[in-house]
Amino acid sequence: MKHLAPKPSAKVVALPRVFRGSGMRLISITGGKGGVGKSSIAVNLALGLSRLGGRILLVDGDLGLANADQLLGVHAPATLLDVVQGRIDLADAVLETPWDICLLPTCSGRKEMAELDEHSRSALINNVKALRDKFDFVVVDTAAGIGETTLDLARIGDIVLAVVTPDPTSVRDAFSVMKILTKEYGIRRISLVANMVSNRADGLAIFKRLTGVTTRFLPVTLELAGIVVRDPCLARSIIDRRPLLAAYPGAPASHQISELAANLVTIDRDVSDLDSDPDLNE
Ligand SMILES: Nc1ncnc2c1ncn2[C@@H]1O[C@H](COP(=O)(O)OP(=O)(O)OP(=O)(O)O)[C@@H](O)[C@H]1O
Ligand SMILES: [Mg+2]
Repeated sequence: MKHLAPKPSAKVVALPRVFRGSGMRLISITGGKGGVGKSSIAVNLALGLSRLGGRILLVDGDLGLANADQLLGVHAPATLLDVVQGRIDLADAVLETPWDICLLPTCSGRKEMAELDEHSRSALINNVKALRDKFDFVVVDTAAGIGETTLDLARIGDIVLAVVTPDPTSVRDAFSVMKILTKEYGIRRISLVANMVSNRADGLAIFKRLTGVTTRFLPVTLELAGIVVRDPCLARSIIDRRPLLAAYPGAPASHQISELAANLVTIDRDVSDLDSDPDLNE
């Protein structure tokens, strides 16, 4: 697999009409709880954004147990570990994938990545922030939990996207992350994706449950950016090592993640448009 540095010169002319002036280029994916679908949403959201015409970079910010390369079915010749250890420049770790998106991969299961010292962590965060000027959108997947690097990567998002499932522990963990992000890092707006729901009502119920507590206790505006149903095609796409949007474009979750991408591009769009999604209305 050839790996290429991003082409900064391409970005302005390549900007499709829909992206102009958005300024919301870095999307960080968080959620607190493990296994809620952060990586699945991150990978497929990147594809969805790319199909809207943008040049997209996916950053695998799960520094402990990375898996974006696996979800995209690519082999990463170099990773963020090589960057952190000073062997290569960040741009040289960026990989072109067969899915019209670029990937900044991370290696999995290396303690030195999971436990970065403060200097390496802040260098990494600054590097990732700088990449937002070279792409139309940078999507940053993050790890479960509330580790410092995870929170640092989550808080740099122009759009902070929290993935939550109907599982009450997921709702509670998401609230805990939101509390830290608002109280300690001054985040004032968080977008929510209700994932693995049975139907639209299920997704709206999660949103209501969370806004019920955030409005009372946190200085944050929560908005519903998308609802994604539990879809068996997602598990199949992972086994196929192909992103859902490429492997099963007609699957309900593919439509809903594409819609999520469209919502994020026009972040102020009225989310009541979700009413028109037939896959969510039983
Ligand atoms: N909408 C969905 N429908 C069905 N399965 C899903 C859906 N979203 C995620 N999954 C499944 O849930 C599992 C966990 O997903 P994923 O790895 O994306 O979660 P994660 O939040 O990134 O996990 P971790 O915290 O460990 O990084 C995977 O097996 C994936 O296929
Ligand atoms: Mg993950």
